[in-house]
Amino acid sequence: MSTDTIASPSRTAFDVRPFDAPLGAEVLGLDLAQPLSAADFECLRSAFLDHHVLVFRHQRLTPTQHVGFSRRWGPLQRHVLHQFGLYGHPEVLIVSNIIDSGEPIGLGDAGVFWHSDLSYKPRPSLGSLLHAQELPAEGGDTLFANQHLAWDSLPVALRDAVAGRRAEHHYLKQYAELQKRSPWRPNLSEAQVAQVPPVAHPIVRRHPETGARALFVNEHFTTRIVGVPEDEGQALLQELFTVSTQPRFVYRHRWQPHDLVFWDNRSLQHLAAGCPPQQRRKLYRTTVEGDVPA
Ligand code: SIN
Repeated sequence: MSTDTIASPSRTAFDVRPFDAPLGAEVLGLDLAQPLSAADFECLRSAFLDHHVLVFRHQRLTPTQHVGFSRRWGPLQRHVLHQFGLYGHPEVLIVSNIIDSGEPIGLGDAGVFWHSDLSYKPRPSLGSLLHAQELPAEGGDTLFANQHLAWDSLPVALRDAVAGRRAEHHYLKQYAELQKRSPWRPNLSEAQVAQVPPVAHPIVRRHPETGARALFVNEHFTTRIVGVPEDEGQALLQELFTVSTQPRFVYRHRWQPHDLVFWDNRSLQHLAAGCPPQQRRKLYRTTVEGDVPA
């Protein structure tokens, strides 16, 4: 496995160590609590575009530092379930299965279906930064699937069937199902529902920074293919969901204490594998706004 040592002219030397996987790399020797020079930032950007997931180990960041690093990548998006925002840091979503005095402290079932964060928004997320606070002894992994490889591997007939087409994404697609599984999941207010109307995006998008094509549909939020009869569209979507998350495209992240994981939602889908309910899991997530998919 190769390791690139990136020396920035201004200060830091850090290592980017690619995983033996279809995506992902570990960044070693960088403390994100310290100011990051423009040169270091550009090195990180290029590693991010190359590997789609960057894992920063041993990051003892405060929420303010987490938000500060996240903002370097673009404006932050607030989750529609604002009740799970971290007190004093509304841009930080608490992802947690912990119930405290009968109340969930965070979104406990975030990511139980494959998805790309906020694909249901007109400007879906560029990337998300998830910082481990409390980890279970067992399970709790996060899986990432490379959607460039998924597109490249698509059978020609399937490519031809979807190229140039758009699909609708809707936050509410699995909401009733999630409420059935997780009774603590809140009902949405009218104002919340109004924030997340359905939107249509290309099924195959071009990455705005690299130009690489990627599949952009997911089982969590994609409801239908625009302009295709319902049965035919659903059959195509099911095929795409299956093909796009095959194990050969997947990196499985096993969390270590104080990991900060930054992934590219324009290139990937991800899934939370879950952990035994009695095991406590808590992470803080920020979400950087991306472009309008094209
Ligand atoms: C998410 O979908 O953002 C949460 C992923 C996780 O909890 O592993």
